[in-house]
Amino acid sequence: MPSYTDILISEPEHGVLTISLNRPQAFNALRTQTLAEIASVLAECQQDDGVRCVVVTGSEKVFAAGADIREMAELDMVGVMNNKRPVHWASIRDFSKPLLASVNGYCLGGGCELAMHADIVIAATNAKFGQPEINLGIIPGAGGTQRLVRTVGKPLAMKMVLAGEMISADEAQQAGLVAEVTQPELTLKRTQALAKTIASKAPLAVQLAKESVLQAFESPLSSGLEFERKAFVALAATHDRNEGIRAFTERRKPEFKGY
Ligand code: CAA
Repeated sequence: MPSYTDILISEPEHGVLTISLNRPQAFNALRTQTLAEIASVLAECQQDDGVRCVVVTGSEKVFAAGADIREMAELDMVGVMNNKRPVHWASIRDFSKPLLASVNGYCLGGGCELAMHADIVIAATNAKFGQPEINLGIIPGAGGTQRLVRTVGKPLAMKMVLAGEMISADEAQQAGLVAEVTQPELTLKRTQALAKTIASKAPLAVQLAKESVLQAFESPLSSGLEFERKAFVALAATHDRNEGIRAFTERRKPEFKGY
């Protein structure tokens, strides 16, 4: 892996690699460089069979306080238009292995958008989610208006986006933004344990399961069902499907090979 300035990377453990945002002086604000580094690590992980699942996290106090407002202040309209951020966001969006977010503290603006790029969000009791861009005279620019409404529904999304008010971890869980709420000191451990569980499953099934679930955001029900059916049929041709079923009948743990 190349060396990075804005993030820390763990060695893969049981197929799980952890990316820690590391800009404490700026509350882990996501400057363009930070997004580029996340995208670069995910591109490496995409090619690495030893990585089955990625966890992205911040510190115990803050996940990420949004885009870097100081960097934004330097950009005029042409600068914003030509910014590479959408390219990096697209790379994060297109990562085909499971991406889990482990959220402690503030998860705001681009931070909340990063969490929404994850497939599963585990949050600490001290987490606060919000899209406060309206307070800066702007709107969310990395999918916040679209992913939030699809995740939590129109009334709460409108409240967060129009009023800029934050919601608690419990509210986020009730609304469906968060899968589980933990004590702050346990969030990362729990997220990594869940990632390890996912990493132990048949990789092709995991990949197609993720793709199938994401189809629900992209297509009408009939197309999503068709996609799921085709993926289900394709998996019938894999070694791991036969192994999984055989292991069940033989009452032993399956040995998945990834094909
Ligand atoms: N960008 C750059 N620096 C940030 C930052 C951000 N988004 N958020 C916090 N910081 C910096 C502060 O400037 C401060 O640095 P200094 O000590 O050098 O002044 C440091 O982090 C600590 O911040 P505060 O002193 O403000 O800490 P606090 O505990 O009083 O408040 C906070 C914490 C509520 C998160 C507050 O910092 C805040 O409101 N931050 C901005 C949140 C925001 O508006 N996010 C949206 C950004 S726009 C966006 O995200 C758009 C997009 O993706 C397209």
